Amino acid sequence: MRILIADDDEIALAMLAHTLTQSGYDVETATDGRQALAKLREGRARLVVSDWEMPHLSGIELCQAVRESFDNYVYVILLTGRGSRQETIDGLSAGADDFIKKPFDPEELIVRVRAGERVLGLETRDVTIFALARLAESRDPETGEHLERVRDYCRVLAQQLGRQATHEEVDAEFVRLIYATSPLHDIGKVGIPDSVLLKPGLLSDAEFAVMKNHALLGAQTLDAALGQFPQAQFLRMARDIAATHHERWDGSGYPHGLAGEQIPLCGRIVAVADVYDALTSKRVYKAAYCHDVARSIVLEGAGSHFDPAVVQAYRDCERQIVAIAARYGVDVGPASDREPPVATAGIASRR
Ligand SMILES: [Fe+2]
Ligand SMILES: [Fe+2]
Repeated sequence: MRILIADDDEIALAMLAHTLTQSGYDVETATDGRQALAKLREGRARLVVSDWEMPHLSGIELCQAVRESFDNYVYVILLTGRGSRQETIDGLSAGADDFIKKPFDPEELIVRVRAGERVLGLETRDVTIFALARLAESRDPETGEHLERVRDYCRVLAQQLGRQATHEEVDAEFVRLIYATSPLHDIGKVGIPDSVLLKPGLLSDAEFAVMKNHALLGAQTLDAALGQFPQAQFLRMARDIAATHHERWDGSGYPHGLAGEQIPLCGRIVAVADVYDALTSKRVYKAAYCHDVARSIVLEGAGSHFDPAVVQAYRDCERQIVAIAARYGVDVGPASDREPPVATAGIASRR
């Protein structure tokens, strides 16, 4: 892990460098804010410990510049003179992550740097999850931004459920996890041959049996990872989602024919988000339906295909759902002259 330290006081700089290298960190130095920004742009360090007052660009200005122009998250620890309330407010407003009072306590510095590493680690994990999901999806050229939309819908649905007394288990952590892991729902599709995955039109019974296998394949892959890290909640949720997003409330889904609350809530949420998105997107086997048509199919599925509580949440936050869809260029106009689908059951599963 490489850390950039920025301070115009050479003695302070040397002391910071000494403390950090002693603890095994790789250190880069800058003697003013402008130089620090240039070094951060080179992308070698993702954590910076910066003095508050520096020539050219102050610590606060450095912070603002990083937040305004960097795609990657850089964790910023500011060294403050007095540690006053106003300094904290100014620093947080500029986007600082943490503060250390000057003269710094070496032990405190290391503890705060470690906290920063943990935050960066979380971000890296979520980026990795998404990259894996994207890799699986890349074989299917028509799904566009399906993963982004599904995770956005899932977040809105989960937040809505969490507001109800009946769903106390849906807390901020649940919402964060479903947002991070829902893109993995179809990870098992890496194991489905192109002849089935990319086939235009409906699938034969044999082909559908092959396609259905993606739920089990995904679950098995994530289960193996969970075996290595049994404490990892995100792997548990990812596994549950991959395994159960095609189960149906009435027990007619696959792979296990689970019913009602046997299906984990995360799977029931992804089911609604995934089907709604499949309906409103163009696929090799179907045209895109507008929001109104997709909506009526979702509502019709309450109690049969979908958990009625999740469908209720979908109704309650319909405006947010439409706003997300519109942001991704989905046709959210009225049904009007659009031909409604003939049979609604299983449209998203090509049967
Ligand atoms: Fe799926
Ligand atoms: Fe999907």
